[in-house]
Amino acid sequence: MKALVLAGGKGTRLRPLTYTTAKQLIPIANRPILHYVMEHIRDAGIRDVGIVISPETGQQVRQALDHAGFDVHLTYLVQQEPLGLAHAVKISRDFLDDQPFVMYLGDNLIGQGLRPLVEAFERARPDALVLLKVVNDPRMFGVAELDGSGKVRRLIEKPKDPASNLALVGAYLFGPAIHMAIDGLEPSWRGELEITDAIQRLVDEGRAVHSSILESWWLDTGKKDDLLEANRVVLDEWIQRDVKGVVDDGSQVIGRVVLEEGATVRRSQIRGPAVVGAGTVIEEAFIGPYTSIGLHCSIIGSTLEHCVLLDGVRVEGIQRLEDSIIGKGAVVRRLHGKHQAVRLMLGDDAEVLL
Ligand code: TTP
Repeated sequence: MKALVLAGGKGTRLRPLTYTTAKQLIPIANRPILHYVMEHIRDAGIRDVGIVISPETGQQVRQALDHAGFDVHLTYLVQQEPLGLAHAVKISRDFLDDQPFVMYLGDNLIGQGLRPLVEAFERARPDALVLLKVVNDPRMFGVAELDGSGKVRRLIEKPKDPASNLALVGAYLFGPAIHMAIDGLEPSWRGELEITDAIQRLVDEGRAVHSSILESWWLDTGKKDDLLEANRVVLDEWIQRDVKGVVDDGSQVIGRVVLEEGATVRRSQIRGPAVVGAGTVIEEAFIGPYTSIGLHCSIIGSTLEHCVLLDGVRVEGIQRLEDSIIGKGAVVRRLHGKHQAVRLMLGDDAEVLL
């Protein structure tokens, strides 16, 4: 079994962060999303992994994986244009050969390992096995209709009137028949080769398309609120207390907090779950639950809760910063003076909610 991780794409919905950072490298609890994906793949016993990259962010992705010590063999596959998930499989044809493979979207996270799925696939050897999750509003997803035995009868992309509440999750297992199905595809209305169309072709040809319903959580980090939610869930479930930084007598670090070596806390309170990166200084501040702070940040005289700060961010004199994602090196600072004006220098596509 091989794995194909999709780490190309445009990431338009996460601009401006994705102007400088590949979407799959945005940190969740201070680790790139892609590292969690790689961990799942490795823990499923897969050693041969293809990574689909884009010409724009491919180099960053390589750097983030090459020395991360996952102990798997990596092959980088450049997709010149993001022409769809099925297109990503198409350009990976030589790498995949005729072997079965797991396809995992590099910006998705699931709360459980892949091993049971890989084992189920190897036992039954279907042509495809899709992972499904019960969702409240299926209209935003690819939706599957099943027959009584759990086989897929129909897949519909973002249906107006969904026939089930089972959404396609960002991990799939395929046998070699998927390549023929993809070869016969035409681009969809949005100009992409859709993996749902390819799977539907398998169904139409009478091939075995099995399904498995995910019991644990599933997070797609494609938009701001999803990213904050992913940060909340990962901090909640996967973070253990580990305080290596320096905490002065006037400070309290409460609960499951990771304070990396070289971080400093003075006259402040941190309430977990939270992570604080090396070289960060926290002074006269309150860091509330579900906050991840990157490397070399400084948080002075401020209150933060439910935030993700990338490296090198400065926050000073901010009474309450909530539900925010702040990109590398950004500064949020209150000016002292009579004027109530707000002074901004914002990057393209930035969002300010006052
Ligand atoms: P999407 O989130 O569907 O697409 P995107 O990254 O272009 O984002 P946006 O809609 O905000 O512009 O992609 C899911 C994952 O698959 C993501 O990790 C990017 C990857 N991908 C590719 O590698 N190649 C592709 O052609 C596409 C469409 C996505």
